[in-house]
Amino acid sequence: MPGAVITGWGISLPDKIVTNQDLSVRLDTSDAWITERTGIKERRIGGTTSGLAIEAGRIALERAGVDSADIDILVLATATPDALVPGTSATVQDGLGIKGGAFDVNAACSGFVYSLVVSHGLILSGAKRILLIGSETLSRITDWDDRTMAVLVGDGAGAVVLEATEGPGELLGWHLGADGSLRHLLKCDHGGYMYMNGKEIFRHAVRAVIESSQIALGRAGLAADDVDLFVPHQANARIITAAAHRLGISEERYVITIDRYGNTSSASIPLALADALDTGRLQKGATVLLSGFGGGMTWASAVLRWGG
Ligand code: ACO
Repeated sequence: MPGAVITGWGISLPDKIVTNQDLSVRLDTSDAWITERTGIKERRIGGTTSGLAIEAGRIALERAGVDSADIDILVLATATPDALVPGTSATVQDGLGIKGGAFDVNAACSGFVYSLVVSHGLILSGAKRILLIGSETLSRITDWDDRTMAVLVGDGAGAVVLEATEGPGELLGWHLGADGSLRHLLKCDHGGYMYMNGKEIFRHAVRAVIESSQIALGRAGLAADDVDLFVPHQANARIITAAAHRLGISEERYVITIDRYGNTSSASIPLALADALDTGRLQKGATVLLSGFGGGMTWASAVLRWGG
C-alpha cells in the first residue's frame, strides 16, 4: 500500500508587524499582560486568505520540485475563507495553475491536522501528489476594540506538498476528535466578530492536546518519550507548556512561534513546522508529534516519522 511523505514546505506572512506596544496604545492592555498571559510579542496582520495561501503554496511546490499541473488535489484548511461560496480553494487552485480537485476544510484551529490525515487517506486511495495549505486572516473577523480577542490573533499561511511513496510513508498514528456540545465556547456568526470563552477553552484545550496526543502515540506504538519534536497549535504559550509538561516533553523538544505570529488558527502548525525545518531542528528519521485544538471544539493529533 502506498504511503505519503512531505516533500516540500512554504510559508507566507503579511509584511505588517503589530507589536504588543502598538496594541496597548489603543486598547486597555499592556506588553506585560499579553506576554505573561499568552507568550505573544507581535503578530503579522494583512492580506487575504487566498493570497497568503497562493504564496505559501508556490514556495512549497518549488521546494518539492513539483509542477502545479501535477498536483492531484488541493486541500485548503481555513476558518476564514474569502467568501462563503465558492470555497477559497477555488481561487488558490486557479492562482497556482492546479488542474486537480480542490476543496476547503473548516475544523477551526485543528484544520491543518484534520486535513493532513485526510490527505494521507487520499494518497492511500490513489492520489499521487497533494498540496495542503493552512491559511487564515483572523484579523478580518476580529473586533479590534475587543482586547480579549485583538491581542491573540495573527494572519499567515503554511503549506506542505505530500507525495505518494513506496512503503509505509510517514504517518505512524493519528487521532481526530470533536465535541460539538462545546461549540458555544468559540464562535463567529455570519458577518460578526469572533467570540471566545478563553478560560473554558484553555481548560479543555490542555486536556484535549494531552489525550489526543497520547491516543495518536499509542496507535503508533510509541510514547511521549519517543517524540523528537512536538509541533503544537500555537494559541497560548501557557497551553503549550502545560500540555508538554504533563506529557513529559521537555522545552528543547517543542516548537514555539506564537511570540512572533500570535494565533494563526489552521496556519499555526505548518508555520511552526516550517520554522523547525528552516532552523535545522527537524531531521530525516525524527519522530514528530503534531497536535491542534480549536473551535467546535475539535482536536487532532498526528505522529510522523519525518521523511518516511
Ligand atoms: N489586556 C489586559 N487585561 C486583560 C486582557 C487584555 N488583553 N484580556 C483580559 N484581561 C483582564 C481580564 O478582564 C481579567 O481582569 P479581572 O481579573 O480584573 O477580571 C484579567 O485580565 C484576567 O483575565 P482572564 O480571562 O482570566 O485571563 P486568562 O489568564 O484566562 O487569559 C486568555 C486569557 C489569554 C484568553 C486565555 O484564557 C487563553 O489563552 N485561552 C485559550 C485561548 C485559545 O486557546 N483559543 C483557541 C483558539 S482561538 C482562535 O481560534 C482564534
